[in-house]
Amino acid sequence: MSTPLGLKDVPADLYGKRKHERALTLMAAVAPRLPWLAGLGVRGRELGSPTVDAQQLIVRAMALVAVDDDVVSLHLRAPDNTPLPRWWPGAHLQVQLPSGLLRHYSLCGDPADTRSYRIAVRRVPGGAGSAEIHERLAPGATITVAGPRNAFPLIAANHPAAHGSNGGSTQSRSIRFVAGGIGITPILPMLDYAEQREIRWSLIYAGRSRESMPFLNELERFGDRVTIHCDDVDGPPTPAQLAGEIEEADALYCCGPPSMIHTMAELLTDYPTIEFHFERFGTPPIIDGKAFDVELFRGGEVLHIPAHRSVLDVVREARPNVRYACKQGFCGTCLTRTLVGNVEHRDHRLTPAQRQHGEMLICVSRATGDRLILDL
Ligand code: FES
Repeated sequence: MSTPLGLKDVPADLYGKRKHERALTLMAAVAPRLPWLAGLGVRGRELGSPTVDAQQLIVRAMALVAVDDDVVSLHLRAPDNTPLPRWWPGAHLQVQLPSGLLRHYSLCGDPADTRSYRIAVRRVPGGAGSAEIHERLAPGATITVAGPRNAFPLIAANHPAAHGSNGGSTQSRSIRFVAGGIGITPILPMLDYAEQREIRWSLIYAGRSRESMPFLNELERFGDRVTIHCDDVDGPPTPAQLAGEIEEADALYCCGPPSMIHTMAELLTDYPTIEFHFERFGTPPIIDGKAFDVELFRGGEVLHIPAHRSVLDVVREARPNVRYACKQGFCGTCLTRTLVGNVEHRDHRLTPAQRQHGEMLICVSRATGDRLILDL
């Protein structure tokens, strides 16, 4: 049995601002020791699930799944109720809404249900996609989806615990799941998957309050393996609380806001034998960003891009119709052609040929110099 982690040197609290800009640096520090980590959590590589071309699905049912009304679940079926492509825990759909907006949502239903998908959507303040779903989408509506795709797979096939006590391994391994808010969605199907394979696991599910946390009722059957942590009662969770009893040969799967991912990455920097799989929602922090100017060729506006803001965010203030979906550099929706200037590509998608032709994903990529002219 390995030794439980010492946690004396971890950050004092989850939501503190200390060193948050180091998140990606920490990922880079962890990744070389865990080669399979590259691409996980950033959806840069599509792993583990079959993919299909876009198809139209019908919204069969919608339900509020958080007491504060901020999260709605959608059940999707094919118009003729034919079987849907298979998926595995951690998979997501790209959803095109009736307005044309593209968004990505984790599948949070039962992978064994071959005729229905379930996703859940939190209302994001100022978010056009979530507002459209919450306010204008209704059962019977048609949406277009692409996928399922999986960049956050539960890699359990070779997990010693998956083979039971006679699996030939003397090493005891378990999985620690860490979910923050709507980050519970990809984790939910993982719990059943682990359960069915008799993998030892525990979950901490953190949120602002019980009222804001979806799917609490679906976790009750797991008893004390699930810890519910509410900030309004318990205070922000500490790294030690998030890590729980994790040991050196265990795996940690985390889905939550960037601050939570950062906290776990910082914690695990000193424990390279712990597998770390993560999926973040929200925009990743900008690491080592430098300020520069962007000129919009068609209108002539010159915009200043501060070191801490993305080109997309600034450009959308001048051109609100510029499209985006993931804001993480993997979906390609914000593709823009650069007419003048050199690009520091920070995406996970463009090919060398695309980059050579001046294409750029403005949600994450930046200028190497003082100025870019974009074909906008
Ligand atoms: S919005 Fe997805 S790559 Fe930019």
